[in-house]
Amino acid sequence: MAIVLETKDLTKKYGDVIAVDNVSLSVEKGGLFGLLGPNGSGKTTMIKMLTGQTRPTGGSATVLGLDVVQDPVGVRGHVGIIPEQETPPSFLTAMEYLRFVAAVRKIPDIEPKAEWWFDFLDFADKKNVLCKDLSRGTRQKLMFTQAFIHEPALALIDEPLINFDPIMQDVVKDYLAGYVKKGRTIFISTHILEVAEEICSGFAILHKGTLLYTGPVAELAGRNEHLPSFFLSLVRKDRHV
Ligand SMILES: Nc1ncnc2c1ncn2[C@@H]1O[C@H](COP(=O)(O)OP(=O)(O)OP(=O)(O)O)[C@@H](O)[C@H]1O
Ligand SMILES: [Mg+2]
Repeated sequence: MAIVLETKDLTKKYGDVIAVDNVSLSVEKGGLFGLLGPNGSGKTTMIKMLTGQTRPTGGSATVLGLDVVQDPVGVRGHVGIIPEQETPPSFLTAMEYLRFVAAVRKIPDIEPKAEWWFDFLDFADKKNVLCKDLSRGTRQKLMFTQAFIHEPALALIDEPLINFDPIMQDVVKDYLAGYVKKGRTIFISTHILEVAEEICSGFAILHKGTLLYTGPVAELAGRNEHLPSFFLSLVRKDRHV
């Protein structure tokens, strides 16, 4: 299996804070890889480094064969990204935002593609509404759309499910599971461990910037373990309070 994402001793320090500490992991093509960890464990920092949004202070990483430090623009041109807590520009309508994304990414035939997404995520009635007037979940639908509308070989998505209602979580979960069956790859950070267990092929657990564990989800099942309890036992073991 080809490796589409690889980190070697990847490290990020913000002053005295070590947000990510010597993390080495790899993700196979066609995988749905879950990055798990408590609040502040370094997940968003990892995704920022992997998408050229922040520079590592140590180690290295390649994404689709491109070095994230040498070629951050190249990396961003080839992946889909949902950054944490990012919202679309307040002064554009949902449709205008997708046209803007299409212009920047040179995506052809944006109108029918956008229509498909408006229907699929059930927000066609909002396409001409200014983004500032959209609900939080609808803004998240738009962010989800912009990450996947060009069908990137690799999508890096930071906690994309959190603002969705249960129906939408189900729709999106099925979409992600189907997406990787076509040979594309997804790197997702999430706190929803039951979903990770259901749809992820591989996973990693970060805690205080350190990689506690990485491996295939099937391996846990083979040991008769469940991801949520495995996660809690590992992370709690390391808690000193
Ligand atoms: N720009 C920054 N400046 C200083 N410290 C930062 C910065 N960004 C993140 N940190 C610190 O790095 C650590 C990891 O933060 P990060 O946002 O990566 O965690 P996370 O795993 O995504 O958490 P959450 O689950 O809450 O989203 C935290 O201690 C955080 O305070
Ligand atoms: Mg985060």
